[in-house]
Amino acid sequence: MLKTHSCGELRREDVGQQVTLAGWVNRRRDMGGVVFIDLRDRDGKTQVVVNSGRSQEAFNVAEQVRGEYVLQVRGGVHARPEGMQNPDLATGEIEVLVDEVVILNPSKTPPFLIDRDENVDEPIRLKYRYLDLRRERLQRNITVRHKAIKFIREFLNERDFIDIETPILFKSTPEGARDYLVPSRVHPGKFYALPQSPQQLKQLLMIAGFERYYQIARCFRDEDLRADRQPEFTQLDLEVSFVERNDILELIEALMIGMVKEASLVPLAYEDFPRLSYAEAVDRYGTDRPDIRFGLELIDVADIVGKSAFRIFAENVAAGKPVKAICVPNCGSYSRKQLGELEDIAKEQGARGLAWMAIHPESEQIRGPIVKFFSVEQLIALTERLEASPGDLVLFASDEKQVVNDVLSTLRVEMASRLGLMDKRELAFLWVVDFPLFEEGLEDGHYAPSHHMFTAPKREHIPLLDTDPGAVLSEQYDLVCNGYEVAGGSIRIHERPLQRKIMQLIGFSIEDAQDQFGHLLEAFEYGAPPHGGIAPGIDRLVALMAGEPNIREVMAFPKTAQATDLMSDSPSEVATRQLKELHIALAVSEMGAT
Ligand code: AMO
Repeated sequence: MLKTHSCGELRREDVGQQVTLAGWVNRRRDMGGVVFIDLRDRDGKTQVVVNSGRSQEAFNVAEQVRGEYVLQVRGGVHARPEGMQNPDLATGEIEVLVDEVVILNPSKTPPFLIDRDENVDEPIRLKYRYLDLRRERLQRNITVRHKAIKFIREFLNERDFIDIETPILFKSTPEGARDYLVPSRVHPGKFYALPQSPQQLKQLLMIAGFERYYQIARCFRDEDLRADRQPEFTQLDLEVSFVERNDILELIEALMIGMVKEASLVPLAYEDFPRLSYAEAVDRYGTDRPDIRFGLELIDVADIVGKSAFRIFAENVAAGKPVKAICVPNCGSYSRKQLGELEDIAKEQGARGLAWMAIHPESEQIRGPIVKFFSVEQLIALTERLEASPGDLVLFASDEKQVVNDVLSTLRVEMASRLGLMDKRELAFLWVVDFPLFEEGLEDGHYAPSHHMFTAPKREHIPLLDTDPGAVLSEQYDLVCNGYEVAGGSIRIHERPLQRKIMQLIGFSIEDAQDQFGHLLEAFEYGAPPHGGIAPGIDRLVALMAGEPNIREVMAFPKTAQATDLMSDSPSEVATRQLKELHIALAVSEMGAT
């Protein structure tokens, strides 16, 4: 090795040792006759001191050195002089007095400073990702990721799971996004699809008798990207035979608790993960992935305001539409402008306006354009129901159920963020269970699966498939943390007749089903065991554990929101020859795809 120690390793006990270190120049200060260098490697930083009095030759080399040069230095470990220690640095009590410096490689001036946690434009960071990755923040994040995956493997290996790889060149899998397709050279006009998840394959592995499978699996989905979505991402994919819902939930709870303790920079809020039914989650938070680090719950006030003289509320209640409200502390003195901003947010979510009331912090008077439509008794009933206190702001929504949920769940998060409630550094996990099997509303006269078409309906709800499919609840479960869906899974259908029935309800003809899933349907006829599984999203979990708002920050080489890789400039054009081999002719005009 070109080094005897890492740059994060030396301590006071090492004083007196002769060492060789190698790494990058993090910072260099020339004090005239003495050059101080902070030498950095993955493990940390060490101050090395090159004194012309000790070695003129080493000093001459050190004078040429610039930031990000790669150096090897040889010297003795010394205690730093009194008052010169750096308590912020693990190696801050010592320094290496250098006898020899070798420049292993010079460096151009980097496009941004590596040693400072400054805001650098993301396109620059992504173009020079290999330099961005040198920075402390990303080194830390990638290490959290490594520790998490290491823990996961050990945890599952101990519990008798086996790691099985599944193909990347496969066939379309129905997770609801668009597929990435790969043309076949050997079979003109035919395509592989990159897996949106190994869903079918893991079910086939259960039929194959492996009983406990896992894989750190790469998944590909061509969908609109957001802070928590990348076109290729990583799941811990797992599947177990002869299980019931509770077995999976308990397994994953223990896994999450252990992983957070082992790898996370953000602690757990609690270890007992609450379980909420889908209906309760949506009722209390307006969403099936609530952030429960804070309250601000949605309160039903229809029975109170339905009798008021405020026409919109009264009419909506008469028509069976909901009226709900959230009560926000300390925002009772919001100005017209601030309330206007909130109204704009509500409108973006489909509301026609935003009704509000504020309680003056001192006079306790209730103000707001709608107040005059309420009787004193109604106002008292409202404040009691909402547990509103002086200084509070109450925001109402009344419309179709979906709009009310969208408006109030968005405002809930917006107000929590303004009040700093989202800054709380803790991980608040919860399970959401008892999802409807199908999404609300019919698509072309058919139902759309809420999770995917392999999810089992609750046993006792199977008869409802014939009479009221919309009312059928499923064996789906989602794990949610701080407002993100971090895992999704279900107990599966393992009988072919039931799978067929679901496919018919979804609108798959027998031929379509045969064409796309013939292999799976056929496999179900050879003794498929009851089975179920789940897939935690590694990127989202690691982002939460590293306290990062975007999953790009925890991926070594992520793509932009436009699904491009700025470093390698992909996607890119390919040679005509390559296209010919693939039997592909492009129909792309100057203006874009035709
Ligand atoms: P699902 O589609 O719910 O389930 O995905 C499981 C988890 O994967 C993560 N995830 C993503 N992460 C980053 N970028 C994306 N584009 C992205 N899409 C999903 C989320 C999500 O909770 N086969 C089923 C699992 C099963 O039923 O066992 C599946 O893929 O954290």
